[in-house]
Amino acid sequence: MKYLSDVLFDAILNYPDLNLQEQFSNLVGLDNEKDRLLKESRILLRPDEVEEWSERHYGSIVPLTQAFKGRLPLFLFAGDVGTGKTTLAESFPDLVARELNIPITLYRMSLGVRGQGAVGQMTSLITAVFERIEEEARKLASNGSSPRSAIVLLIDEADALAQSRDLSQMHHEDRAGVDALIRGIDRIGGGKYPVLVVMCTNRLEALDPAVLRRAADVFAFNRPSLEQITAVLTAGLDGLGFESQQFQTLAKILGDSRKRGYGCTYSDLTRRFLPGVLFDAFPDAPVKFEGAEAYAQAFSPTPPFRNEE
Ligand SMILES: Nc1ncnc2c1ncn2[C@@H]1O[C@H](COP(=O)(O)OP(=O)(O)OP(=O)(O)O)[C@@H](O)[C@H]1O
Ligand SMILES: [Mg+2]
Repeated sequence: MKYLSDVLFDAILNYPDLNLQEQFSNLVGLDNEKDRLLKESRILLRPDEVEEWSERHYGSIVPLTQAFKGRLPLFLFAGDVGTGKTTLAESFPDLVARELNIPITLYRMSLGVRGQGAVGQMTSLITAVFERIEEEARKLASNGSSPRSAIVLLIDEADALAQSRDLSQMHHEDRAGVDALIRGIDRIGGGKYPVLVVMCTNRLEALDPAVLRRAADVFAFNRPSLEQITAVLTAGLDGLGFESQQFQTLAKILGDSRKRGYGCTYSDLTRRFLPGVLFDAFPDAPVKFEGAEAYAQAFSPTPPFRNEE
């Protein structure tokens, strides 16, 4: 990963990349999203493949292929905290790069693009982001419909940038920013460039309808089910001598929503529970199931993201 002192982007990632491939395969419970993302990306980056499909199966170009025309290359990842939005956004380009056999570069837009509130600042920074992406995309050698490389623009924590222009208390400056964002997406869309845009948000309902309407697909992210918690624990506590029944016991405790109305997020499990289990035993003893169980009983899951409006 390259960190930048750039105001527009705070990181640039290149694919294929073994670490990001591993992050992608470690994501639990997102198999449908992964499959859909690959298919969507493929059709957006190589629109001719839809016509080839039609020729192959019908001997002509059926009207249904038009359903994909004019779609903008925008994916929305929406859902609760710690459910894998950022991780999937930063790792799925690896799969696309491997499947299409092309290099891909991801530009992660800096949160600084919101500016410091000076008049016109956010608007001109957002416009500059899309100009840079267009400039980079133009440089990509392309042989017509099959791009030889592609770009992903990641707009993480997009709430602040793309919130609804209807909110009456919304500052004029923010409204202008949303307009610049929409113009930017329109500008790189329409199949002109091999570019995909991913926006992540905790609050789909707060996004501007004009942004929502432009999305080619919306992906919903949720807290893990019991089976998914069990899968994370089985991988994370491997080698400690636990039985499969014991993983299920821990999962039941950690996923229990009776007390609070919610269970653990994925990041509660990977970033807090698993390290805590080790921490409890370290340095004098191995991990014991009873210790892990007591720790699970006392563990507090992160509350769901709530809309403050
Ligand atoms: N589906 C998943 N499977 C396994 N681990 C996961 C999954 N989702 C999240 N995690 C773990 O949680 C960590 C945080 O996830 P991530 O930052 O992608 O969440 P997010 O949805 O972007 O959260 P936020 O809304 O707070 O930005 C990851 O590094 C990973 O360890
Ligand atoms: Mg995130």
